Amino acid sequence: MTSLIRFLMCAPDHYDVDYVINPWMEGNIHKSSRDRAVEQWHKLHHTIKEHAIVDLVTPEQGWPDMVFTANAGLVLGKTVVLSRFLHKERQGEEPYFQQWFEKNGYTVHVLPPELPFEGAGDALLDREGRWLWAGYGFRSELDSHPYLAKWLDVEVLSLRLIDDRFYHLDTCFCPLTDGYLLYYPPAFDSYSNRLIEMRVAPEKRIVVTEPDAVNFACNAVNVDRIVIMNKISNKLKTQLADVGFQVIQTPLTEFLKAGGAAKCLTLRTTEPVREELHGSVYVESRVICMKGHLLDAGLINRALDLIVDNGGSFQVLNFDLGEQRQSTSSAEVKVSAPSHEVMEEIISQLIELGAVDLPQDERDAKLLPVTLDGVAPDDFYVSTIYPTEVRINGQWVKVEKQRMDGAIAITETPNGIVAQCKLIRDLTLADKVVVDVQGIRTVRKPESREQRNSQEFSFMSAGVSSERRVELIVEQVAWELRKIRDAGGKVAVTAGPVVIHTGGGQHLAQLIREGYIQTLLGGNAIAVHDIEQSLMGTSLGVDMKRGVAVMGGHRHHLKVINTVRRYGSIAQAVEAGVIQSGVMYECVKNNVPFVLAGSIRDDGPLPDTQMDLIKAQAEYTQQLQGVEMILMLSSMLHSIGVGNMTPAGVKMVCVDINPAVVTKLSDRGSVESTGVVTDVGLFLSLLIQQLNQLTSPYTTQIG
Ligand SMILES: NC(=O)c1ccc[n+]([C@@H]2O[C@H](COP(=O)([O-])OP(=O)(O)OC[C@H]3O[C@@H](n4cnc5c(N)ncnc54)[C@H](O)[C@@H]3O)[C@@H](O)[C@H]2O)c1
Repeated sequence: MTSLIRFLMCAPDHYDVDYVINPWMEGNIHKSSRDRAVEQWHKLHHTIKEHAIVDLVTPEQGWPDMVFTANAGLVLGKTVVLSRFLHKERQGEEPYFQQWFEKNGYTVHVLPPELPFEGAGDALLDREGRWLWAGYGFRSELDSHPYLAKWLDVEVLSLRLIDDRFYHLDTCFCPLTDGYLLYYPPAFDSYSNRLIEMRVAPEKRIVVTEPDAVNFACNAVNVDRIVIMNKISNKLKTQLADVGFQVIQTPLTEFLKAGGAAKCLTLRTTEPVREELHGSVYVESRVICMKGHLLDAGLINRALDLIVDNGGSFQVLNFDLGEQRQSTSSAEVKVSAPSHEVMEEIISQLIELGAVDLPQDERDAKLLPVTLDGVAPDDFYVSTIYPTEVRINGQWVKVEKQRMDGAIAITETPNGIVAQCKLIRDLTLADKVVVDVQGIRTVRKPESREQRNSQEFSFMSAGVSSERRVELIVEQVAWELRKIRDAGGKVAVTAGPVVIHTGGGQHLAQLIREGYIQTLLGGNAIAVHDIEQSLMGTSLGVDMKRGVAVMGGHRHHLKVINTVRRYGSIAQAVEAGVIQSGVMYECVKNNVPFVLAGSIRDDGPLPDTQMDLIKAQAEYTQQLQGVEMILMLSSMLHSIGVGNMTPAGVKMVCVDINPAVVTKLSDRGSVESTGVVTDVGLFLSLLIQQLNQLTSPYTTQIG
């Protein structure tokens, strides 16, 4: 024995794999050899005793995992936070460990019930004693971390585990003497990896590969410059030797079958306190309230999943289940996050789902002034497509010009406070901007079971639509188009040149002629190719009737551009009788406004193409005012651009051959976004057929 460091161990008298509470135990029930386990444990015991003092706790019948003393509790100085096991299979160990600690003069802190924390398995002191690394995600709850900071008066850094093979922090993370760290980064989420990298210098980080990690290389016992562990690769051994650590390998295969190795089999009970350091923790908690069809619309699942997926944890404090089909439910959920940054991310997503602060927590939105034209304060709240309200001076104010990816600007006018979404570039020194996530709520229309079911057939989130499914969607779109037209409503189309190449131009032209479309949003290409077809019968040099390339056809579109340029605009070329058919012709003839937004790949461009993109975006936004429905036809660029500008509540039909484009637009939810994965020419021709079959408004002849 060379040191005064003490460890607590428990002989494997009753050790066995009796149940499955981690992936390592699967398939290993009663598969470990008692004799071999005893032999391996004694070897480890003997090795540690050569370098430190080992105390023993009496093993108890019926608690096979008591051998893993790392999970007895967390010790700092003479204070212990006793473990509160997640699984009932281990909860019976708690009183035995408590007795041992009390008998040995420790002050024992006991966590509230229902707040799991698995001791030194999930909380590891930096070996210099500067802070405590605390894991969560599988066994310990994030909400236990503030207790650790308070009772042990230590800074707690929360790390989220994401790979269930590494269910305890000590299975993938091992602080070593002199500030070194042995760890397996893929076991942690990106936020945690960033935190580790911020605290541990690159030359002190020893990254373990997966083969070593699954041999529990990180589950090591460190005494000064000695590291005791199960078998590891020569490469890792050399890496450790290079920075001055002597590795002692001792086989622990029988314990690996239960998901533990050297570190799990020991608890370091001498952890010196650094009096000059004090407790702090970055964990934040907030209580949010959700109301609506929480269960049948799946809202509560989505909310809880997003909390966990973003690195937070939750506790449902109250759930009031609406018992009738038509009644709504409400839930109060405590959300915890390892930092303010993570909390902001979680809350802003919860706001999108319609969550609000509890009334007693209601606070005004935080505002910061703009200090540079066109630049928002760092922490600005990024707006979404959902109708939003912000709380200013105790009043909820509706946000105007709702769109996504903007900031919420507040201005005081003689008529009161105005809140509106503004693009960053449009912010001025006169604006105050909403920052952080408090005092903000979105108003979402409750989506009931009935609503969802009635929309279901028209929605597809991904994958390829079957022919019948496309037909069903077309029937629905035709019906909607007729309804909107007959009610004097507004429909916008965004379209790419593929509409023309696939022969859909004539159908789109017909839709415009018959009054179904009130505005056309596209780029240079749709107009160029449409006019090429109208003037020369080709689209990109391909004869549209015969489907073959025409000699010299690749120059056609340039000639067309040149012709329109000569007349000064598309409208003038139409008026001069040069353009006599097609999509653009119908727009001009039927007074349907169009905006052609320029791009880097534009030939020409046509005189009508708006090459100032900021102006083009403003013109698009202007045209989108008051639309009820948008047909997005085979233009990823323009469709996604338009999607970002459009507030919730506008129906969108996105037609594209690429499921990824359709899925991106379908993220808005099933009620208002319909994706159709099909050829756009085919879609338009089916749509025209369907419209022709509609006899009177609001009645379809289906089947
Ligand atoms: N000559 C020109 O000036 C010229 C030519 C081409 C594009 N452009 C410009 O480039 C920009 C981007 O052009 P874009 O909108 O064509 O490209 P885009 O890549 O944004 O969109 C094309 C979309 O069409 C989809 N698609 C392809 N074949 C299809 C089919 N048969 N049926 C349904 N969907 C199909 C693709 O999956 C893609 O999502 C625009 O501003 C456009 O004006 C200019």
